[in-house]
Amino acid sequence: MPNEAVSPVAVQDGAGANASGADSVHPFPRNRTEGHVIECDGERAVIAASAGKSTSASDDYWAVGQLISVRVNENRVVGLIYKIDAPTKDWDRNTDNVVHIYIELVGEIRNDSTGVARFTGGIAAYPYAGAVAHRIRAADLAAVYAASTDNSVQIGQLSQDRSVPALISIDKLLSRHFAVVGTTGVGKSTAVTLLLRKIIAARPDVRVLLFDPHNEFTAAFPRDAVTVDASSVDLPFWLFKLDELVEVIFRGRKADPTEVDALRDLIPLARERFRRGEGGSSPLLRRDKVTTSLTADTPVPYRMVDLLALIEERIGQLEGKADRPALKSLKARLESILADPRFRFMFGAKTVSDVFGDVVSLLFRVPQAGKPICVFEMSGLPSDVVNAVVSVLCRMAFDLAVSSDGTIQTLVVCEEAHRYIPADQNAGFFPTRQAIARIAKEGRKYGVFLGVITQRPGELDQTILSQCNTIFAMRLGNDRDQDIIRSAISGGAKSTLSFLSSIANRECIAFGEALHAPMRMIFEHIAQEALPGSHIYEKQEKNRSGAFAQPIDVVIRRIRYGDEAEFAHEEPVEIAVEARPLLPPHEAGEGYGARVSPENAHPAASPAYRDGRSAAPRYEPQPGNRTGDFARGFRFNRP
Ligand SMILES: Nc1ncnc2c1ncn2[C@@H]1O[C@H](COP(=O)(O)OP(=O)(O)OP(=O)(O)O)[C@@H](O)[C@H]1O
Ligand SMILES: [Mg+2]
Repeated sequence: MPNEAVSPVAVQDGAGANASGADSVHPFPRNRTEGHVIECDGERAVIAASAGKSTSASDDYWAVGQLISVRVNENRVVGLIYKIDAPTKDWDRNTDNVVHIYIELVGEIRNDSTGVARFTGGIAAYPYAGAVAHRIRAADLAAVYAASTDNSVQIGQLSQDRSVPALISIDKLLSRHFAVVGTTGVGKSTAVTLLLRKIIAARPDVRVLLFDPHNEFTAAFPRDAVTVDASSVDLPFWLFKLDELVEVIFRGRKADPTEVDALRDLIPLARERFRRGEGGSSPLLRRDKVTTSLTADTPVPYRMVDLLALIEERIGQLEGKADRPALKSLKARLESILADPRFRFMFGAKTVSDVFGDVVSLLFRVPQAGKPICVFEMSGLPSDVVNAVVSVLCRMAFDLAVSSDGTIQTLVVCEEAHRYIPADQNAGFFPTRQAIARIAKEGRKYGVFLGVITQRPGELDQTILSQCNTIFAMRLGNDRDQDIIRSAISGGAKSTLSFLSSIANRECIAFGEALHAPMRMIFEHIAQEALPGSHIYEKQEKNRSGAFAQPIDVVIRRIRYGDEAEFAHEEPVEIAVEARPLLPPHEAGEGYGARVSPENAHPAASPAYRDGRSAAPRYEPQPGNRTGDFARGFRFNRP
């Protein structure tokens, strides 16, 4: 074994003492049986070996999924076993048996001038017939998976040899985006919390915005995250672009083009009216004299009361015209949404002020204030506005990075990503797809990164998945999902993915930019109390013990009104808006921070309405106490 003599690593290992301690933690005894190459076509090779009488001595050695090495001159060619068979198709327990081992060539290890083992994906000298194949040394295994940059962290151990750390490059993980895929319950969310912890430790400059559809991540980041949800965030409607607002107003259904046209015309005027603090005369009536550089998309505040008044004015102008019913229906639509407590996070602010800075500071952690992660809990949001909210926030993440010259860098993590960016181009919401695709395609130039998590990669927009250059593929049962992941891996070790349907929970096959070579690994163990959704598990325990019960009337109210039932005003809110002059600027206050006085405000901001809200006890979200958590609880109620 000439190369073992020159390599310091090899000397250790060749001494059979296993200085790395590999075998001491390995569950099976290892032997040193050698095999010989009998066939090689440049991509794959077949090795003939003799399996001893005792199958237990070599059963983890020549086994599918193991990496082995083939000595070729001074180098070791690394192969992944994807199949084994006995050519005689028979097994004699009393003698040695011949086995054939089929390997896919992964790369080559050579020692550099200092004797350190280095792995490359290419192969300079292919195995020749008769070349000796044997178990890979722990040091060679470590060289295969050594991280490619300095900013590398350990996220687990190799499945093949638990003494070898699974390392990834955080910089590449971020800048080239990543995806975690796997069937339900295999540990995707837990793996993501682990990755996020490593990311914020290695890159303190990066912020994380995590869309959390099941309200489960807060429990995993007690120190590092702020949590916002529909009851605690104020995401004013004027931050929404026209098509996002339309998605909300029409609750995800097809919009009426006349109504959308009216909004497109009138929202800029409402914005202009607010900007000028204009009162008395309506810009609509003097339309020819009003020019505005504002558009329906400019993120400048406007008041709903102004928009409703403008619609009313236009209705007045259109006496007998065909568009009147559409405008009336638009007005009714807006009024009903203003009265809906579930939309308070958008329309509930008592005053219209320029809270853009506040929203950015809270959601995008500027400054971080020791909490770089923002968990956006979405189970309390009406499901038909989730898309629009994700769209607004992804857009903001991108704009922030661009406008801050890349100094505000954000990792946007989309849990259950197939919901917002489905494969079916006709489903989902186009602006959300557009906003996420923009991050995926251009984000790395400005410092906006994407992490997607899904249990159905086949149902995810394939162009966005293809931009995720590191994939952590956990167990996947569905053939189509497996095919999609298989098509994402390139080069050697495609066969690694043949195990996708059978790998254990917490285990994954990781491949892509952040690692040298595809790696089958086990994520680090996370303590029970730091698991995502740990409060849900606790609650289930309580439910089982009967310590926690919900009165049926509360359950029914929640079904009817959602979480808001706990603070919803029982009386229906009267909304009746007439076109009326606005207050002159000095009475309304100046600038964006101007207050809307009760007299000129929309009744939704009237004292009666406000009292109705404030009289009811304010709902303070408690972990494990929301409708979404109940739903989640049922999902998790598995043995
Ligand atoms: N790294 C880990 N350490 C400890 N336990 C883990 C780990 N990964 C997974 N588990 C266990 O598996 C359970 C399910 O994990 P998790 O919720 O992350 O799965 P998931 O794939 O996100 O499921 P779903 O598709 O339902 O969201 C956890 O509650 C935990 O008990
Ligand atoms: Mg999950």
